[in-house]
Amino acid sequence: MTENLTIGIIPGDGIGRDVTRAARIILNLINERCADISFVYKDMDVGEAAIKKHGSAFPDETREGISSCDVILFGAIGAPHDFVVLSGIRYGFNLYANVRPIKSLPGVEVLQPDADLVIIRENTEGLYRGIGYTDGDYHVNLRVFTQAGMERIIHFSFNWAKKNNRKKVTFTHKESILVHTDAFMKELFYEIAKDYPTIEADDMEVDACAMRMVMKPHTLDVIVAENANGDILSDVGGGIIGGLGFTPSANIGDNLAMFEPVHGSAPKYADKDVVNPTAILMSTKLMFDYLNRTDIAALLQNSLNQVYLEGRVRTYDAGGNSSTSEFAKAVAEKLDDLWDNNLAYNEVNE
Ligand code: IPM
Ligand code: MN
Repeated sequence: MTENLTIGIIPGDGIGRDVTRAARIILNLINERCADISFVYKDMDVGEAAIKKHGSAFPDETREGISSCDVILFGAIGAPHDFVVLSGIRYGFNLYANVRPIKSLPGVEVLQPDADLVIIRENTEGLYRGIGYTDGDYHVNLRVFTQAGMERIIHFSFNWAKKNNRKKVTFTHKESILVHTDAFMKELFYEIAKDYPTIEADDMEVDACAMRMVMKPHTLDVIVAENANGDILSDVGGGIIGGLGFTPSANIGDNLAMFEPVHGSAPKYADKDVVNPTAILMSTKLMFDYLNRTDIAALLQNSLNQVYLEGRVRTYDAGGNSSTSEFAKAVAEKLDDLWDNNLAYNEVNE
């Protein structure tokens, strides 16, 4: 039986247009090749394009459109619309877990070639909830959590670790200072850890974790972080694996998920067809994992790995001079070959 899916595509601003175009090249091929899955696209606007059409950066048309999709693929959004758009989707649809794998690709020159860890950023609470006030001399942003929110992200992290054959979950905090949130959450973390006896549980101060990520990333596995801390750790992670061109993400809730590169809209490169689409292609890979099509996800990852290993087609940030679309086409060609050879489960160069 064919599974019919609606994939919402939101290019957003700047290079979001370039990278979603690249992702569609891959999606079109998968749609063509895969007999038991079939998808249609639903194109939606946010940011400048949405202001032109609908008068708002995150219009009702888009909010309602998102509700009718199975999954969403997002390009990029920059200031000044980033918060309204991303919070509209992440908070508005309760996509509470932001999963951000940090893994070096073979053949790419990076600071830490053995890095292979995953940051799970709490996506709806904490400092970035934007709750605060100004009162005279006091300028306050509150770091607000709920116990339900804490429990939900801790359970998610252990379940994700189990499902993805990860060995350890590390809870990050500043428990000595943030007693109402972090000290309390740490206790919850170890309590909940008892439900997952096959996964090792440990904790670290978040600043120490940032340094460890730079110096000894192979000692880290799955990291759970509060919203703002997770944001910062993600860019540290990007820095050790070649930059934000290599950092995908999945924003996951109970009924919907949005897949998005961690990078921003880089307006100066917009519509030039030069940026690296790897982060969105790996986000697309995460989308197929989420859809329980790990066979397609593995094929896509292998195709990317092979294109990097061969090294002929690369964008400027990875030492080449190919365009965004040339890179996407090279990955699509590789995917087409691998599909024929049915190499889905032979992880290349793992
Ligand atoms: C990210 C980005 C966003 C965030 C910004 C653009 C609001 O930095 O996804 O990491 O902080 O969540
Ligand atoms: Mn960020």
